[in-house]
Amino acid sequence: MANIKCIGILTSGGDAPGMNAAIRAVTRAAIYNGLGVKGIYRGYKGLVTGEISEFRSQNVSNIIQLGGTILKTARCKEFMTPEGRQIAYDNMKKEGIDALVIIGGDGSLTGARIFAEEFDVPCIGLPGTIDNDLYGTDTTIGYDTALNTILEAVDKIRDTATSHERLFFVEVMGRDAGFLALNGAIASGAEAAIIPELDTEVDQLEEFIKNGFRKSKNSSIVIVAESGLTGGAMHYADRVKNEYPEYDVRVTILGHVQRGGSPTAHDRILASRLGAAAIDAIMEGQRNVMIGIENDEVVYVPFTKAIKNNKPIKLELVNVLRELSI
Ligand code: F6P
Repeated sequence: MANIKCIGILTSGGDAPGMNAAIRAVTRAAIYNGLGVKGIYRGYKGLVTGEISEFRSQNVSNIIQLGGTILKTARCKEFMTPEGRQIAYDNMKKEGIDALVIIGGDGSLTGARIFAEEFDVPCIGLPGTIDNDLYGTDTTIGYDTALNTILEAVDKIRDTATSHERLFFVEVMGRDAGFLALNGAIASGAEAAIIPELDTEVDQLEEFIKNGFRKSKNSSIVIVAESGLTGGAMHYADRVKNEYPEYDVRVTILGHVQRGGSPTAHDRILASRLGAAAIDAIMEGQRNVMIGIENDEVVYVPFTKAIKNNKPIKLELVNVLRELSI
């Protein structure tokens, strides 16, 4: 370990349920191993503005069950400039912080990679995003909870869809990744998922209508991943209104409901394991890697790999959905 006495921890980008469990795990594991801990508020912004305070074990008591992040989060424009990062580095040194643990999605880990390269600062990333779009980990912190929130909502929508014999388009988050939409559709028994990964290959709406859901059903739910590529649920509802006016169409956009709530057991355990592993990694002298869990084993993934490699959607899942929604 390259003389690391104190670590700083921050959450950045979109919040995700389980971030608090990760903050708790990093803090407690660091203290257990004799390291000092400083909490940095509002993501990279807190590094630039110096919103930093010492964390003791009690600072993270009673938070494992809470959604959101006690450290707050932000997207910081200043940190995107070399001048902003210089101020951040100076503040970090002033506070005696030797290494950083960053919990966030691809934008946050990209910031960490640039900062680490510019100032030779050891940075460890934890995958925190409901989108599950980071390469090198089976799931990301918050994804399982968001998936369960989607299920709860879709189960309710199904009641009204069935009663009125309607076609519902339900839009879920995921930016340009279809994990929430595809697995949300399988788990809720939806009739189809429209995901950005397949958008260039087929007209997903036409395929869905062609498969003839009307043969055995009078109502239907299609989960659509929000995305510039798919155009989102409104786009498909408009298309159906124009191209298939016989259908009675409605749209539900789940939005930020998906980002809140108490984390599931899966997300709490994942966050706890990743947080403890982040401190192991620092003690081993690792730097500039994201910690992931693959096949139930902790893995270290270089930032460049985690950010740049697109995590592929399993075609097997697309087929499962197709077969089971007849
Ligand atoms: O990255 C997570 C995410 O929830 C995306 O799925 C979504 O596109 C985005 O954040 C929305 O973020 P915000 O409303 O905070 O800008």
